[in-house]
Amino acid sequence: MRTHNIALLPGDGIGPEVIDAAMLVLEAAAARFDFALKTQRYDWSCQTYLDTGRMMPADGIERLQTHDCILLGAVGWPAKVADSVSLHGLLLPIRKQFDLYVNMRPHRLLAGVDGPLRAKDFDILCIRENTEGEYSGAGGRVHQGTKAEVAVETAIFTRHGVERILRYAFEKARQRSGRLASVSKSNAQKHSMVFWDEVAEEVAADFPDVRMTRYHVDALAARMVTHPETLDVVVASNLFGDILTDLGAAIQGGLGFAASANLNPAGGGPSMFEPVHGSAPDIAGRGLANPAASIWAGAMMLEHLGEVAAAEGVIAALEATTAAGQTVTPDCGGEASTWEMAEAVAQAIR
Ligand code: NAI
Ligand code: MG
Repeated sequence: MRTHNIALLPGDGIGPEVIDAAMLVLEAAAARFDFALKTQRYDWSCQTYLDTGRMMPADGIERLQTHDCILLGAVGWPAKVADSVSLHGLLLPIRKQFDLYVNMRPHRLLAGVDGPLRAKDFDILCIRENTEGEYSGAGGRVHQGTKAEVAVETAIFTRHGVERILRYAFEKARQRSGRLASVSKSNAQKHSMVFWDEVAEEVAADFPDVRMTRYHVDALAARMVTHPETLDVVVASNLFGDILTDLGAAIQGGLGFAASANLNPAGGGPSMFEPVHGSAPDIAGRGLANPAASIWAGAMMLEHLGEVAAAEGVIAALEATTAAGQTVTPDCGGEASTWEMAEAVAQAIR
């Protein structure tokens, strides 16, 4: 039987609850579609940091390297551990070490989910550069605390980095509607973003079947609200993609629904799948968390593993559950617990 080897990183807060919920659904899909999931759970979290002074053991990356994929819940316990420590101790090293340069997030309304917009019929796939750009971390501060203080944060755009994210986005657009929105701000940022636009035009020449439209990021943000149905694949730099995907999460009904894949399409290490939301300490441990985002992330993982029918089955079952509206969590207007909603989705698969 086909067996996929998955590392589970439940993390903090609602992380373990939504990972258990997602695994209930993924196991149902495995049984129904004839494959096996071999899972290994790593309880690396802020508690690990409090106990050992590290978010993960020194050989954490090597241990993760042995898996096909990583499914992550959420990391963060701000009352006990600074967010900069938890983020830099676990999430960012994984993204960096495995060169997970594509951050992909689907934004559409599941049936039965209303969302804040009048427009309901949109299906946007945001592709964010995940390794360089505005979040490269290059810079520094001098004369701290004085009137002469200076802070510099340098955005780094390499041809290697820009070209590979654009190529990935063009491939995705080719598989979908053939439309691609490339996001920049080349009127104001005359070096990095003019460069981005130039590389986009170069790559476009290799994809004559894809119609690329260039947008400035501010105009695209407005378009996502006023005419989201005109967009399909959207590709953006690290910072612009970060902001646009929070907007995307908002228009699809909130953080309870937004899912994310961190991919290295070249392979060589595991890709990582996660809900967009954090550890939600305000609702942790009470069964209130919406498991839709982590279930959707799990479906993206199955698709990445080549289990396309199972991935579609999971999304269809999730959508059947939200459409029926009987067994959904409080953030979608229901009374079900995290586990009960996941059980309804698993039942729809079975
Ligand atoms: P958050 O996403 O944890 O929560 C924001 C709000 O959304 C809260 O009111 C929460 O109750 C609600 N919410 C989140 N997920 C939900 C779900 N599945 N169902 C229902 N409601 C949900 O963001 P916040 O509060 O800014 O951060 C909390 C901690 O999470 C921090 O330590 C932060 O650093 C960390 N964080 C971790 C991320 C990750 O591991 N990828 C991403 C974002 C934040
Ligand atoms: Mg963000």
